[in-house]
Amino acid sequence: MKFSIPKPFYYYTTGIATVGGGYLMKDYFSGNMYEVPDKLTNKIAIVTGANTGIGKEVTRDLAKREAKVIMACRDMDKCEIARREIVIETQNKYIYCRKCDLASQESIRAFVDQFKKEYNKLHLLINNAGVMRCPKSHTAEGIELQLGVNHLGHFLLTNLLLDVLKDSAPSRIINLSSSAHKRGKIKLKDLNSDKTYDPGAAYAQSKLANVLFTRELANKLKGTGVTVNAVHPGVVRTDITRHMGIYQYYLGRLLVNSLMWLFVKSPTKGAQPVLFAAIDPSLADVTGAYLVNNKIREVSGEAQDDKLAKWLWAVSEKWTKLNYV
Ligand SMILES: NC(=O)c1ccc[n+]([C@@H]2O[C@H](COP(=O)([O-])OP(=O)(O)OC[C@H]3O[C@@H](n4cnc5c(N)ncnc54)[C@H](OP(=O)(O)O)[C@@H]3O)[C@@H](O)[C@H]2O)c1
Repeated sequence: MKFSIPKPFYYYTTGIATVGGGYLMKDYFSGNMYEVPDKLTNKIAIVTGANTGIGKEVTRDLAKREAKVIMACRDMDKCEIARREIVIETQNKYIYCRKCDLASQESIRAFVDQFKKEYNKLHLLINNAGVMRCPKSHTAEGIELQLGVNHLGHFLLTNLLLDVLKDSAPSRIINLSSSAHKRGKIKLKDLNSDKTYDPGAAYAQSKLANVLFTRELANKLKGTGVTVNAVHPGVVRTDITRHMGIYQYYLGRLLVNSLMWLFVKSPTKGAQPVLFAAIDPSLADVTGAYLVNNKIREVSGEAQDDKLAKWLWAVSEKWTKLNYV
């Protein structure tokens, strides 16, 4: 007697197996949750761009670990909505919103002045905020926006906070970079993209600048107990795509999200490599590194150029008037 599987049963089980397999593969590509239960009670952290995306999820986790978190954001209404959600969920009332627009050096300096009036310790600085592929635009000081926010804003913020970070050692600085740094070139003759502007190239340049900044800062911080590392969080479904043409349309978003579903992480998963870099005890003495999937990875050739890192540092000091005020 020949045995045959009834068709509806066959389709049903194949469907379940495909969906289940898809979810398992997605889970694999998304990486693990950082589940080390360490608490951060009495530790003070600043997270830039903490109202959405990766920064919000990093803040949520730090709040669960009982840290005091200062959400450094440009839009106080959005910040307050995110803060309330996190406070209600985590029952940690030590989560605060403070205005910090990284596209304005005046705003950054005001943020640091206020922070230093309120606190004398800082254990974690998460330089997360970012803007990607925006139309040509400038910071209040006339600096191309992606370079200005992603690199120079964080360069100034970090340098102004170094004294407190050193006083609080061991302390850590995490710079959100990207694998896009590998496509990046530092335009020595047109750093500000005044002559030509390509949104993708400007983003890649700014993310390369994050790695070069990490490298040079690690050199300068040797022996201080303050470490600095760069992280690529993976490809994460966040608002970072807001300026990309295809994401402006519902159908475009639907198409790309469906095609990329398997490989794109949720913001919660995207926050995990940042948390690993910020908390994991195995990284206590690691500095100047670039982390991907919780492993130290080699950076592009250009990102290993110490001469270039020093050149960028000198220009950044000048453009932020770091030593003049
Ligand atoms: N998502 C990815 O696939 C991916 C991949 C590699 C690297 N990264 C990096 O990860 C970081 C976080 O990105 P995300 O994906 O979470 O993006 P996101 O959802 O767009 O969040 C970016 C955050 O930065 C803030 N921000 C933008 N301009 C600012 C300014 N002038 N001053 C202060 N804050 C400002 C945004 O505030 P508003 O909400 O007010 O605009 C928002 O809070 C970025 O540095 C990005 O380059 C992301």
